Amino acid sequence: MSNRSVKDDIRDYWGERAATYDASPGHGLGPRSADWEELLTRHLGPAQGRSALDLGCGTGEMTLLLHGLGFCTTGLDITPQMMARAQAKASGTGIRFIAADAEATMEPPESHDVIVARYLFWTLPKPEAAMADWLRILKPGGTLLLIDGDHVNPPPLDWLAPWFDRILGRDPKAGHALVTPAQWDAHRAIVAQLPFREGLRSSTLLALLEQAKFQQVQADNRGLQAFRPLGWRQRLLSLGRHRFVVSARKATVQG
Ligand SMILES: C[S@@+](CC[C@H](N)C(=O)[O-])C[C@H]1O[C@@H](n2cnc3c(N)ncnc32)[C@H](O)[C@@H]1O
Repeated sequence: MSNRSVKDDIRDYWGERAATYDASPGHGLGPRSADWEELLTRHLGPAQGRSALDLGCGTGEMTLLLHGLGFCTTGLDITPQMMARAQAKASGTGIRFIAADAEATMEPPESHDVIVARYLFWTLPKPEAAMADWLRILKPGGTLLLIDGDHVNPPPLDWLAPWFDRILGRDPKAGHALVTPAQWDAHRAIVAQLPFREGLRSSTLLALLEQAKFQQVQADNRGLQAFRPLGWRQRLLSLGRHRFVVSARKATVQG
Protein backbone atom coordinates (compact mmCIF):
# COMPACT_ATOMS: atom_id res chain seq x y z
CA MET A 1 0.00 0.00 0.00
CA SER A 2 1.31 3.47 -0.89
CA ASN A 3 1.89 6.09 1.80
CA ARG A 4 1.54 8.91 -0.72
CA SER A 5 -0.97 11.63 0.07
CA VAL A 6 -2.63 14.16 -2.20
CA LYS A 7 -0.10 16.69 -0.87
CA ASP A 8 2.74 14.64 -2.37
CA ASP A 9 0.91 14.82 -5.70
CA ILE A 10 0.41 18.58 -5.28
CA ARG A 11 4.12 19.05 -4.54
CA ASP A 12 5.13 16.99 -7.58
CA TYR A 13 2.67 18.87 -9.79
CA TRP A 14 3.99 22.32 -8.83
CA GLY A 15 7.53 21.00 -9.07
CA GLU A 16 6.81 20.24 -12.74
CA ARG A 17 5.12 23.60 -13.30
CA ALA A 18 7.83 25.73 -11.66
CA ALA A 19 9.94 26.32 -14.78
CA THR A 20 7.16 27.98 -16.80
CA TYR A 21 4.89 29.21 -14.00
CA ASP A 22 5.74 32.91 -14.25
CA ALA A 23 5.39 32.98 -18.02
CA SER A 24 1.67 32.15 -17.83
CA PRO A 25 -0.26 35.43 -17.88
CA GLY A 26 -1.92 36.09 -14.55
CA HIS A 27 0.95 34.42 -12.67
CA GLY A 28 3.92 36.72 -13.20
CA LEU A 29 2.64 40.18 -12.24
CA GLY A 30 4.37 41.92 -15.17
CA PRO A 31 2.42 44.92 -16.46
CA ARG A 32 -0.27 44.41 -13.78
CA SER A 33 2.18 45.03 -10.90
CA ALA A 34 0.70 48.44 -10.10
CA ASP A 35 -2.82 46.97 -9.81
CA TRP A 36 -1.59 44.24 -7.45
CA GLU A 37 0.32 46.79 -5.41
CA GLU A 38 -2.77 48.99 -5.14
CA LEU A 39 -4.81 45.98 -4.02
CA LEU A 40 -2.34 44.99 -1.31
CA THR A 41 -1.93 48.56 -0.04
CA ARG A 42 -5.67 49.11 0.17
CA HIS A 43 -6.23 45.96 2.23
CA LEU A 44 -3.11 45.76 4.33
CA GLY A 45 -2.48 49.42 5.15
CA PRO A 46 0.96 50.88 5.82
CA ALA A 47 3.74 48.30 6.02
CA GLN A 48 6.27 50.08 8.27
CA GLY A 49 8.16 46.93 9.15
CA ARG A 50 5.00 44.97 10.05
CA SER A 51 5.20 41.23 9.53
CA ALA A 52 3.65 39.63 6.43
CA LEU A 53 3.37 35.92 5.61
CA ASP A 54 2.83 34.87 1.99
CA LEU A 55 1.32 31.38 2.08
CA GLY A 56 1.93 29.12 -0.92
CA CYS A 57 4.33 31.81 -2.10
CA GLY A 58 5.33 29.82 -5.19
CA THR A 59 7.80 31.75 -7.33
CA GLY A 60 7.54 34.74 -5.00
CA GLU A 61 5.66 37.30 -7.11
CA MET A 62 3.47 38.46 -4.20
CA THR A 63 6.28 37.91 -1.67
CA LEU A 64 8.50 40.41 -3.47
CA LEU A 65 5.65 42.88 -3.73
CA LEU A 66 5.03 42.66 0.02
CA HIS A 67 8.73 43.16 0.68
CA GLY A 68 8.80 46.12 -1.74
CA LEU A 69 5.95 47.73 0.20
CA GLY A 70 8.07 47.54 3.35
CA PHE A 71 6.68 44.49 5.11
CA CYS A 72 9.04 42.24 7.02
CA THR A 73 8.16 39.32 4.76
CA THR A 74 8.16 35.53 4.99
CA GLY A 75 7.39 33.25 2.03
CA LEU A 76 6.15 29.72 2.76
CA ASP A 77 5.67 26.85 0.32
CA ILE A 78 5.76 23.05 0.13
CA THR A 79 7.32 22.82 -3.34
CA PRO A 80 11.11 23.22 -3.38
CA GLN A 81 11.30 24.01 -7.11
CA MET A 82 8.76 26.84 -6.80
CA MET A 83 10.40 28.34 -3.73
CA ALA A 84 13.88 28.04 -5.26
CA ARG A 85 12.70 30.45 -7.97
CA ALA A 86 11.37 32.84 -5.35
CA GLN A 87 14.64 32.65 -3.44
CA ALA A 88 16.66 33.37 -6.57
CA LYS A 89 14.56 36.48 -7.30
CA ALA A 90 14.77 37.57 -3.66
CA SER A 91 18.52 37.16 -3.37
CA GLY A 92 19.98 39.89 -1.17
CA THR A 93 16.60 41.17 0.08
CA GLY A 94 16.61 39.41 3.46
CA ILE A 95 13.19 37.90 2.81
CA ARG A 96 12.75 34.80 4.97
CA PHE A 97 11.61 31.59 3.26
CA ILE A 98 10.34 28.46 4.95
CA ALA A 99 9.53 25.05 3.51
CA ALA A 100 6.30 24.22 5.32
CA ASP A 101 2.68 23.22 4.95
CA ALA A 102 0.25 26.16 4.81
CA GLU A 103 -2.34 24.04 6.64
CA ALA A 104 -0.04 23.61 9.67
CA THR A 105 2.54 26.38 9.47
CA MET A 106 4.42 25.76 12.77
CA GLU A 107 4.77 29.55 13.08
CA PRO A 108 4.57 30.94 16.66
CA PRO A 109 1.18 32.17 17.90
CA GLU A 110 0.33 35.81 17.04
CA SER A 111 3.47 36.23 14.96
CA HIS A 112 2.17 37.95 11.79
CA ASP A 113 0.31 41.21 11.15
CA VAL A 114 -0.91 40.09 7.74
CA ILE A 115 -1.31 36.83 5.88
CA VAL A 116 -1.70 36.76 2.10
CA ALA A 117 -2.46 33.71 -0.02
CA ARG A 118 -2.90 34.02 -3.76
CA TYR A 119 -4.19 30.94 -5.64
CA LEU A 120 -3.62 28.61 -2.68
CA PHE A 121 -6.94 28.07 -0.94
CA TRP A 122 -8.60 26.18 -3.82
CA THR A 123 -5.99 23.42 -3.55
CA LEU A 124 -6.09 22.78 0.23
CA PRO A 125 -7.25 19.32 1.35
CA LYS A 126 -8.16 20.60 4.85
CA PRO A 127 -9.33 24.21 4.49
CA GLU A 128 -10.95 24.43 7.95
CA ALA A 129 -7.75 23.27 9.68
CA ALA A 130 -5.79 25.82 7.65
CA MET A 131 -8.06 28.68 8.75
CA ALA A 132 -7.76 27.66 12.40
CA ASP A 133 -3.97 27.73 12.07
CA TRP A 134 -4.02 31.15 10.36
CA LEU A 135 -6.21 32.57 13.12
CA ARG A 136 -3.70 31.20 15.66
CA ILE A 137 -0.65 32.83 14.04
CA LEU A 138 -2.25 36.20 13.20
CA LYS A 139 -1.81 39.00 15.71
CA PRO A 140 -5.06 40.40 17.20
CA GLY A 141 -6.53 42.79 14.63
CA GLY A 142 -4.37 41.21 11.88
CA THR A 143 -5.59 40.87 8.29
CA LEU A 144 -6.03 37.78 6.14
CA LEU A 145 -6.19 38.44 2.38
CA LEU A 146 -7.20 35.57 0.11
CA ILE A 147 -6.97 36.01 -3.64
CA ASP A 148 -8.38 33.08 -5.53
CA GLY A 149 -10.89 31.72 -7.98
CA ASP A 150 -12.56 28.77 -9.59
CA HIS A 151 -9.67 26.88 -11.18
CA VAL A 152 -11.88 23.93 -12.20
CA ASN A 153 -14.72 25.22 -14.39
CA PRO A 154 -13.66 27.04 -17.54
CA PRO A 155 -15.35 30.39 -18.29
CA PRO A 156 -18.40 30.32 -20.60
CA LEU A 157 -16.57 31.37 -23.79
CA ASP A 158 -13.59 29.05 -23.29
CA TRP A 159 -14.86 26.80 -26.11
CA LEU A 160 -13.94 29.60 -28.54
CA ALA A 161 -10.23 29.26 -27.73
CA PRO A 162 -9.41 26.43 -30.23
CA TRP A 163 -11.29 28.37 -32.95
CA PHE A 164 -9.28 31.49 -32.30
CA ASP A 165 -6.10 29.35 -32.32
CA ARG A 166 -7.06 27.90 -35.70
CA ILE A 167 -8.06 31.20 -37.31
CA LEU A 168 -5.61 33.63 -35.70
CA GLY A 169 -2.79 31.29 -34.62
CA ARG A 170 -1.85 30.23 -31.10
CA ASP A 171 -1.90 33.06 -28.60
CA PRO A 172 1.23 33.41 -26.48
CA LYS A 173 -0.93 35.40 -24.02
CA ALA A 174 -3.24 32.38 -23.48
CA GLY A 175 -3.66 31.71 -19.75
CA HIS A 176 -2.30 28.19 -19.54
CA ALA A 177 -0.77 27.70 -22.96
CA LEU A 178 2.38 26.41 -21.27
CA VAL A 179 0.70 23.54 -19.41
CA THR A 180 1.39 20.18 -21.08
CA PRO A 181 -1.35 17.52 -21.60
CA ALA A 182 0.35 15.32 -18.96
CA GLN A 183 0.26 18.22 -16.48
CA TRP A 184 -3.44 18.76 -17.20
CA ASP A 185 -4.06 15.06 -16.44
CA ALA A 186 -2.15 15.41 -13.16
CA HIS A 187 -4.14 18.56 -12.33
CA ARG A 188 -7.46 16.76 -12.93
CA ALA A 189 -6.39 13.75 -10.83
CA ILE A 190 -5.46 16.06 -7.92
CA VAL A 191 -8.60 18.18 -8.16
CA ALA A 192 -10.77 15.03 -7.99
CA GLN A 193 -9.39 14.40 -4.46
CA LEU A 194 -9.93 17.94 -3.13
CA PRO A 195 -12.87 19.39 -1.17
CA PHE A 196 -13.28 22.12 -3.83
CA ARG A 197 -13.35 19.62 -6.69
CA GLU A 198 -16.43 21.40 -8.13
CA GLY A 199 -14.59 24.73 -8.14
CA LEU A 200 -14.17 27.19 -5.25
CA ARG A 201 -16.79 29.96 -5.01
CA SER A 202 -16.37 33.22 -3.11
CA SER A 203 -19.63 32.51 -1.22
CA THR A 204 -18.12 29.26 0.12
CA LEU A 205 -14.98 31.05 1.19
CA LEU A 206 -16.92 33.84 2.94
CA ALA A 207 -19.01 31.26 4.85
CA LEU A 208 -15.92 29.29 5.92
CA LEU A 209 -14.24 32.45 7.22
CA GLU A 210 -17.35 33.37 9.24
CA GLN A 211 -17.50 29.84 10.69
CA ALA A 212 -13.83 30.07 11.61
CA LYS A 213 -14.67 33.22 13.65
CA PHE A 214 -12.87 35.71 11.44
CA GLN A 215 -14.34 39.24 11.63
CA GLN A 216 -15.12 41.86 8.96
CA VAL A 217 -15.27 39.16 6.30
CA GLN A 218 -15.79 40.79 2.89
CA ALA A 219 -15.34 40.34 -0.84
CA ASP A 220 -13.68 43.19 -2.75
CA ASN A 221 -14.92 43.66 -6.30
CA ARG A 222 -12.62 46.64 -6.91
CA GLY A 223 -9.67 44.26 -6.60
CA LEU A 224 -10.75 42.33 -9.70
CA GLN A 225 -8.95 44.79 -12.00
CA ALA A 226 -5.66 43.05 -11.16
CA PHE A 227 -6.91 39.81 -12.81
CA ARG A 228 -7.89 41.49 -16.08
CA PRO A 229 -6.01 39.92 -19.01
CA LEU A 230 -4.14 42.36 -21.22
CA GLY A 231 -5.04 41.34 -24.78
CA TRP A 232 -8.59 41.61 -26.25
CA ARG A 233 -8.65 37.90 -27.12
CA GLN A 234 -7.90 36.68 -23.58
CA ARG A 235 -10.20 39.33 -22.15
CA LEU A 236 -13.05 37.96 -24.24
CA LEU A 237 -12.27 34.32 -23.44
CA SER A 238 -12.06 35.04 -19.71
CA LEU A 239 -15.44 36.82 -19.50
CA GLY A 240 -17.39 35.37 -16.58
CA ARG A 241 -14.36 33.65 -15.06
CA HIS A 242 -14.95 33.45 -11.29
CA ARG A 243 -12.09 35.21 -9.51
CA PHE A 244 -12.26 36.96 -6.17
CA VAL A 245 -10.49 38.89 -3.44
CA VAL A 246 -11.65 38.27 0.11
CA SER A 247 -10.36 39.91 3.27
CA ALA A 248 -10.99 39.20 6.93
CA ARG A 249 -9.68 40.29 10.32
CA LYS A 250 -8.78 38.52 13.51
CA ALA A 251 -10.70 40.07 16.40
CA THR A 252 -8.67 42.42 18.57
CA VAL A 253 -9.97 40.65 21.68
CA GLN A 254 -10.74 36.94 21.32
CA GLY A 255 -14.25 36.19 22.65
C1 LIG B 1 -0.96 28.42 -8.05
S1 LIG B 1 0.54 28.45 -7.16
C2 LIG B 1 0.46 30.11 -6.48
C3 LIG B 1 1.82 30.70 -6.23
C4 LIG B 1 1.82 32.14 -5.73
N1 LIG B 1 1.04 32.31 -4.53
C5 LIG B 1 1.29 33.10 -6.79
O1 LIG B 1 0.37 33.83 -6.50
O2 LIG B 1 1.82 33.11 -7.91
C6 LIG B 1 0.17 27.46 -5.74
C7 LIG B 1 1.35 27.34 -4.79
O3 LIG B 1 0.88 26.82 -3.55
C8 LIG B 1 1.79 25.85 -3.09
N2 LIG B 1 1.06 24.95 -2.19
C9 LIG B 1 0.05 24.12 -2.49
N3 LIG B 1 -0.39 23.51 -1.38
C10 LIG B 1 0.37 23.97 -0.36
C11 LIG B 1 0.41 23.71 1.04
N4 LIG B 1 -0.43 22.85 1.62
N5 LIG B 1 1.32 24.36 1.78
C12 LIG B 1 2.19 25.25 1.22
N6 LIG B 1 2.22 25.52 -0.09
C13 LIG B 1 1.31 24.89 -0.87
C14 LIG B 1 2.31 25.19 -4.33
O4 LIG B 1 3.54 24.55 -4.10
C15 LIG B 1 2.43 26.37 -5.29
O5 LIG B 1 3.69 26.97 -5.19
